[in-house]
Amino acid sequence: MADLPILVTGGAGFIGSNLIDALVARGYPVRVLDNLSTGKRGNLPDDGSVELIVGDVADAQAMRRAVQGCRAVVHLAAVASVQASVDDPVGTHQSNLVGTLNLCEAMRETGVRRVVFASSAAIYGNNGEGQPIDEDTPKVPLTPYAADKLASEHYLDFYRRQHGLEPAVFRFFNIYGPRQDPSSPYSGVISIFTERAQKGLPIAVYGDGEQTRDFLYVGDLVELLLQALELPVVEVGAVNVGLNQATSLNQLLDAVGDVLGGLPKVSYQAARQGDIRHSRANNTRLLQRYRLPEPATGMRDGLAKLLGL
Ligand code: NAD
Ligand code: UD1
Repeated sequence: MADLPILVTGGAGFIGSNLIDALVARGYPVRVLDNLSTGKRGNLPDDGSVELIVGDVADAQAMRRAVQGCRAVVHLAAVASVQASVDDPVGTHQSNLVGTLNLCEAMRETGVRRVVFASSAAIYGNNGEGQPIDEDTPKVPLTPYAADKLASEHYLDFYRRQHGLEPAVFRFFNIYGPRQDPSSPYSGVISIFTERAQKGLPIAVYGDGEQTRDFLYVGDLVELLLQALELPVVEVGAVNVGLNQATSLNQLLDAVGDVLGGLPKVSYQAARQGDIRHSRANNTRLLQRYRLPEPATGMRDGLAKLLGL
């Protein structure tokens, strides 16, 4: 059992490749299924320690081949941009929901049980109102991205009840760190702001910059994902993953300016459609079930690590 690979879908991406470094360092064999749409081969070790299957999670056969013979799965493959899902709901749905359903079927057929799933705080919509959101907060998926994540949770729960899958569902809040690709307007805000600040390029803030997010450094997230793979028993119910800390984009810009010693020109533009105003995790359940690194990585330390300083 110990020698069977862990399958990481979306393993060539930002979170996946950070996880894989940790898995390889701990001696796990790793298999990746990734269509390289936003992920890159270069994010993976090139020493043969990782088996890469280039394929689409929306392709049921590719999924079955990838799942066959694995010990467990970490399902990260998805279009990660909320805005991309607004612009292309049908295309996004293939990756973000059909992919999950294909995974559930492949696991049922092959008898693989444990799956760690990357859901999202986006499913709560604007229900936070600036207060920390707990897992029982009503779900208001405002975008196709959020609708697909919520539906994926429901499918995983169906396969748990009906077919014995062991889903560990994490609702990530905003994750940042090395290898988050800044190259698209759809990229995560910290990757965009830090790259543009380093290059002295103007920064666009959508809205007034007072929207808040609960940012978690990817290295801290990876520790949680590893624990979820190893838990003897997964308790039922999704878990918020955040620090219970709200940072506004304006505060984020101040931190980036501090770490880099200055900022380029910042302009304020129209807010994005469907954009969430405040997002902050009540992480009580997380702290009951998992061990967050103590202390967790603070924003300035995380930015310094991201920037290699
Ligand atoms: P990413 O874009 O770097 O990684 C996604 C990976 O999935 C990429 O390697 C991409 O090539 C691959 N992929 C996309 N569609 C695919 C498909 N149809 N078939 C096969 N591979 C496919 O993004 P990330 O930030 O590493 O996100 C990983 C997961 O975490 C996603 O499910 C995302 O929705 C979720 N998530 C991320 C955040 C965050 O703040 N980064 C927050 C909440 C949830
Ligand atoms: C992010 C994740 C999403 C995840 C969600 C959970 C990415 C790309 N998105 O979405 O996968 O499910 O967290 O909380 O990782 N902004 C600017 N200027 C820019 C870019 C963004 O002002 O150049 C603003 C956005 O309008 C938004 C905020 O920054 O208000 C955060 O945007 P973004 O990093 O795309 O993340 P979310 O939409 O929160």
